[in-house]
Amino acid sequence: MAKKRVVVLASGSGSNFQSIINFAQNGASFEIVGLIVNVPEVKAIERAKTANIPSKLVNHKDYATRTDFETALNQALLDFNAELVVCAGFMRILQAEFVEKWEGKMINIHPSLLPKYKGLHTHQRAIDAGDKTAGCTVHFVNAGVDEGAIIGQAEVEIMDGDDADKLASRVIIKEHILYPLCVDAVASGKIILTNGACLNDGKLEMIKI
Ligand code: GRF
Repeated sequence: MAKKRVVVLASGSGSNFQSIINFAQNGASFEIVGLIVNVPEVKAIERAKTANIPSKLVNHKDYATRTDFETALNQALLDFNAELVVCAGFMRILQAEFVEKWEGKMINIHPSLLPKYKGLHTHQRAIDAGDKTAGCTVHFVNAGVDEGAIIGQAEVEIMDGDDADKLASRVIIKEHILYPLCVDAVASGKIILTNGACLNDGKLEMIKI
């Protein structure tokens, strides 16, 4: 079967992007055909260069409205012939009209055990709430922020004396394992979105590591 054409969207360091690059080099069911960033000169661009992946800047600051930005972003995805869009630290909220175009074909990673702690400062909020565990979630993107059907999760224990940085440094290790597995499962068709639910080999079962 032909490899699925993955385009990654990033806004910063791109360590998750790197983990997906590494995975793709070892017989995955997808290839990364492009990187799109919305911020100039971020480290993700260097990672793309090193891996010989073309990158494109679509800077939200160059557009008068969110809709104009999303039109340009959509065009960049079409130019890469994207079949699966992988958000990896992409820090823009996307409107319903854009998201609907990529329904079932766009996924995201979020650093909490969704549905807990949508939005920002997830690790601090988990610590402040006295939670015993934190973690990360990969999900299909829908029009709600951090709300789409869950593809996979990884849990990390919250330890005495943890602060947000210490916890984040352990969660990100799990992100780097979980995200490529989820990208591969969606790319191969093992996992699909149907009627708003994520089916894994036909069952309502998320990937857990
Ligand atoms: C990760 O923690 C991810 O869960 C969140 O943004 C961060 C991106 O990190 N969405 P990186 O750019 O992949 O290093």
